[in-house]
Amino acid sequence: MQKRAPLTWLENRLLQRYLRGRGIEIGALWRRFPTPAQTRIWYVDRFDGAALDDHYPELRGRILRPDLLAEATELPVAPRSLDFLIASHVLEHMPYPLRALRTWYDALAPGGALLLKVPDKRYTFDVKRARTPLDHLLRETHDQREHFEDWVANVGNRSRDSPGFDEAVDDLMRRNYSIHFHVWIDEDIREIIEFTRREWRLDWAPVVFWGAHIWRKEVTVLLART
Ligand SMILES: C[S@@+](CC[C@H](N)C(=O)[O-])C[C@H]1O[C@@H](n2cnc3c(N)ncnc32)[C@H](O)[C@@H]1O
Repeated sequence: MQKRAPLTWLENRLLQRYLRGRGIEIGALWRRFPTPAQTRIWYVDRFDGAALDDHYPELRGRILRPDLLAEATELPVAPRSLDFLIASHVLEHMPYPLRALRTWYDALAPGGALLLKVPDKRYTFDVKRARTPLDHLLRETHDQREHFEDWVANVGNRSRDSPGFDEAVDDLMRRNYSIHFHVWIDEDIREIIEFTRREWRLDWAPVVFWGAHIWRKEVTVLLART
């Protein structure tokens, strides 16, 4: 048993109190979030099982087969129809994370909950990358190349003028590889949520906000729609 397993179990038990009724988990991949037995849950991903095997060969054999194929920003559900939505280590994979949050909010019924887990860059392979400011998310364009370049340079540790750098970027883009488009620390996530409340008047509030620590390398937020 890993050192922090009892703590994770306890945290998950607490979070499960907010998961009731019908919901979906986006991008569960190999690590579906444990939900209470009475819930009805569907698993959504942008790739089917075979494509996930190709994309994540290191996880082959452990990957959960999705029930539904969909882009996280285009969920095939009626507005206000879900009691809960789980996105664990998914937001940072979104080219347009603000659009994703808006989509997830719209899918939630009043009283519904979004469980969000986002890795904190200080404790991951993103440590060398610069935090993404909110401003950038608001200015986001369709040219995503700079994100792939940042990934190859600072996660792949390849110098931008080294031979093969551009080819490595091209290859990831051609495969639509699931990089972390944006990287944050816990306070950035708080700022993004506050932005959706203040500027978009989204009627949700964090009932759980656990910041990242050396023993919990992610931020965990439970947003309840009121
Ligand atoms: C890093 S994995 C997360 C695995 C697991 N939930 C966890 O907590 O470790 C990201 C998952 O999100 C999925 N994903 C990435 N971009 C997506 C998108 N635009 N729409 C739907 N799913 C997406 C990936 O295919 C993958 O299954």
